[in-house]
Amino acid sequence: MVNPIESQWEANSQAFAELIDQKGTPHHQHILNPCVEKLLGDVKGKLLLDAGCGEGYLSRHYARKGAIVTGVDISNALIEICKSLPSEKLNYHVGNICNLDFIADRTYDAVLCNLVLLNIPCLKEALGEFYRVLKPDGSLVFSIVHPSFNFYGPGKWEMGERDIDTKRRKGLFFKVDQYFDERIYDHIWKTRAGDSFPQPMSFFHRTLTTYIRGVIESGFFISEIEEPKPVVDDDFFERERRIPFFLVVKARKPSFKST
Ligand SMILES: C[S@@+](CC[C@H](N)C(=O)[O-])C[C@H]1O[C@@H](n2cnc3c(N)ncnc32)[C@H](O)[C@@H]1O
Repeated sequence: MVNPIESQWEANSQAFAELIDQKGTPHHQHILNPCVEKLLGDVKGKLLLDAGCGEGYLSRHYARKGAIVTGVDISNALIEICKSLPSEKLNYHVGNICNLDFIADRTYDAVLCNLVLLNIPCLKEALGEFYRVLKPDGSLVFSIVHPSFNFYGPGKWEMGERDIDTKRRKGLFFKVDQYFDERIYDHIWKTRAGDSFPQPMSFFHRTLTTYIRGVIESGFFISEIEEPKPVVDDDFFERERRIPFFLVVKARKPSFKST
């Protein structure tokens, strides 16, 4: 049976790759990526798994920084795009991060899972697999859209007038409701030109507690947690300076465990 989430990413692969444009959106570049890079630390010579690598721009980035990277993604079309882009020291696999049985236990020094956990139904399984494939003392760094302020999920900005300079509507305040109601919801992404992606995308709203508990119950201990702010002083990010857009967590596999 075809996995419906896999089909969505297949159908949206080209639009997604164009949106990412080998560098990420302004939100990625100026809010999320600097934080993820800080938490990952020095990757030189390290074996890094990019779990849910998309079109692979972060795999390529960390390979350029000296990591030996494996990118895994459920979308064959996205992995084909990864392979078509010039890169070194990189392996790519089509695979489901909820069952990484093609990877041996204790293989990687670090796992990066950037903006993927909110797209999968199997959070517990993925965290268990990350724990299994990490070496003792290895690190997991994952990011999600902040579950408390996710405007695709339980929250919404109450909007004001459009700002003439930034062309964005001013955010008046952020309202949240039904936060405890964990659920799947669809969202239609837009291309840079403002056109809709071919298919809606499924997202999973979970509470902060579910994420953090899932990490701890998988055997990790949490070493860092960040709600990154924009690193540039630009009016475009006026709303993102008031409320965190992303949440980034670093978790470690203890050094004393044998699995
Ligand atoms: C929002 S994109 C993030 C891609 C990349 N990490 C980035 O930061 O650009 C989510 C990615 O997760 C992939 N994905 C969704 N479910 C997956 C699964 N179960 N196993 C592996 N990849 C999955 C999608 O195909 C997509 O490439």
